[in-house]
Amino acid sequence: MLKSHPIGVFDSGFGGLTILKQIIKTLPAYDYIYLGDNARAPYGPKSFETVYQYTLEAVKWLFSQGCPLVILACNTASAKALRTIQQKDLINLDPNKRVLGVIRPTTEVIGEFTKTGQIGILGTQGTVDSNSYLIEISKSYPSIKVFQHACPAWVPLVESGDFNSKESDGLVKECIDRLLNMSPNIDTILLACTHYPLLMGKIKAQLPDNVQVVEQGDIVALSLQQYLDRHEDMKIQISASQSTSTIQFYTTGDAHEFASKATYFWGEPIDAQKVNLLSTDVLNS
Ligand code: DGL
Repeated sequence: MLKSHPIGVFDSGFGGLTILKQIIKTLPAYDYIYLGDNARAPYGPKSFETVYQYTLEAVKWLFSQGCPLVILACNTASAKALRTIQQKDLINLDPNKRVLGVIRPTTEVIGEFTKTGQIGILGTQGTVDSNSYLIEISKSYPSIKVFQHACPAWVPLVESGDFNSKESDGLVKECIDRLLNMSPNIDTILLACTHYPLLMGKIKAQLPDNVQVVEQGDIVALSLQQYLDRHEDMKIQISASQSTSTIQFYTTGDAHEFASKATYFWGEPIDAQKVNLLSTDVLNS
């Protein structure tokens, strides 16, 4: 039974947990609903139209659960669906609700991390092909040089939960090497896919000392805090009516499998429930 209006956090699968974890550390007083579309991950190789349709279904479902605010904790969905949902769909779904992404908050601050002015971006094929990072970073930091590389094998690796194998070391090394070979002056690598921090140990093991790796969790959490400070109306809507906050986890995949793998990522046991987005057309639009 929901006691307030939770913040919805959406990802194609497990990756958004890396964002939710940091959001909860920064904003512990709210209620949250996490939705992973594990049954249809990965989103990275899928078309613009498919990612948009899947993301829209997820947003509608989270709205139907009472979330007035949904965070697309997924770069691929942020790159391919966010703008259309914000500009075209929200007005029909509910103009008082909001959907935010992870790309803009990241590109607004990423320039602060580099000394050489050269940043490497690792993301899904969809995120890299969208050029969203190139475009957005050039707006905030016109002099910074950006190099991108897609790592299509990394998301299936994380979703499978089987990343402690020797093969996974090779898959991680190959992408890091390819990116760093683009320029010897890259000193900052941004993990522009929320699944990738789950491979952090392996990624760091491949990096030379002069290259730092940046993940998005803290950045998105701080940006959300600032957003809520600027939007008192939203802050009031999501304020919990009781003293302890709740986190509910939903997946389109198998709930037991999600709970056991997510517990590993999350660091403590969680319960998950299965949801079928396709049969949930509650908003009738
Ligand atoms: N975690 C997502 C991202 O940040 C999507 C991964 C995928 O499903 O391919 O891009």
